[in-house]
Amino acid sequence: MSTGLPQREPDDELPKRVTIYEVGPRDGLQNEKAVVPAGVKAEFVRRLAAAGLDTIETTSFVPPSWVPQLADAREVLADLGDEGLGPRRPVLVPNERGLEDALHAGVGAIAIFGSATETFARKNLNRTVEESVAMFAPVVARAREAGLWVRAYVSMCFGDPWEGPVPVEQVVDVSRRLMDLGADQLSIGDTIGVGTTGHVARLLDALQDKGIGADRIGVHFHDTYGQALANTMTALRHGVTVVDASTGGLGGCPYAKSATGNLATEDLVWALDGAGVETGVDLDALVETSLWMAGHLGRPSPSRVVKALTGSD
Ligand code: HMG
Ligand code: MG
Repeated sequence: MSTGLPQREPDDELPKRVTIYEVGPRDGLQNEKAVVPAGVKAEFVRRLAAAGLDTIETTSFVPPSWVPQLADAREVLADLGDEGLGPRRPVLVPNERGLEDALHAGVGAIAIFGSATETFARKNLNRTVEESVAMFAPVVARAREAGLWVRAYVSMCFGDPWEGPVPVEQVVDVSRRLMDLGADQLSIGDTIGVGTTGHVARLLDALQDKGIGADRIGVHFHDTYGQALANTMTALRHGVTVVDASTGGLGGCPYAKSATGNLATEDLVWALDGAGVETGVDLDALVETSLWMAGHLGRPSPSRVVKALTGSD
């Protein structure tokens, strides 16, 4: 397989280096119809790490009745050993029970996940926004005591399939409350992929005004409407240096209508390689991993770059 690379023409308005926060094993596999065996999940994480991905969200500690696809979190981490631990291998944790299990498995980083809207808080967490903040408070406090790195996601930042437009102030308010619990990083989620570039800029400015600077923000764009890469580039021009992406463009949320895959990591790496931005990722190795995973899932990768480079369809 010959993949080639984009012609490198540096873009001086972009950061010199970007950290890709890979969510394929979690956001990607939580949304697959087929349950992928734990051994394949662990191998996926190992291959992603070998391709140069620095931060990989490995799994979730949620009830199996809510997300059966990730019911094997302990098994995956046991298979990974040291490769699954430390501050660059976060796992999703919604509550104290999840934290208990995650600590038992030895994790070094967690992510809580709130919602900017009441409807999605109810559907995804079975709580109001207020109740979910109260659920997260002891989780973050205890995680910090245990020396864990903590990320706070906010979903539905750019629109909600039930409530429609979501006011920027509402997103900022929930973000502020979650960060005030003591999280290290905020990830702003476009769960259903409806956001556009001006909206991204406006939200980042509003967060900055409330003391959450771009240096503490990651962006999490699902690509439903084909806007994820454009939105990411806008965020990078506003000082963000952490970008969530999913190898093969896998992803979605079982509790959000019309949520499809995340920004494909391959498409992001192509864009950043071309613009002279370092990511540490080897595109050839990543494309091979994407094809390997597509083989396990029994369908082609939706990544445009993978299709273009390999002729896969
Ligand atoms: P609940 O049903 O209200 O839970 O769910 P509960 O506290 O009433 O407990 C019910 C049962 O589950 C009890 O067992 C608990 O012990 C057990 P029983 O007494 O009936 O035998 N339980 C657990 N078991 C294992 N692990 C746990 C756990 N907690 C309770 N952690 C809850 C409330 C928050 C747990 C549930 O709503 C939940 O886990 N939701 C998560 C759903 C999810 O994972 N969604 C996808 C991830 S979010 C996402 O994808 C968006 C993101 O990518 C960003 C974006 O795109 O915007 C992050
Ligand atoms: Mg997501």
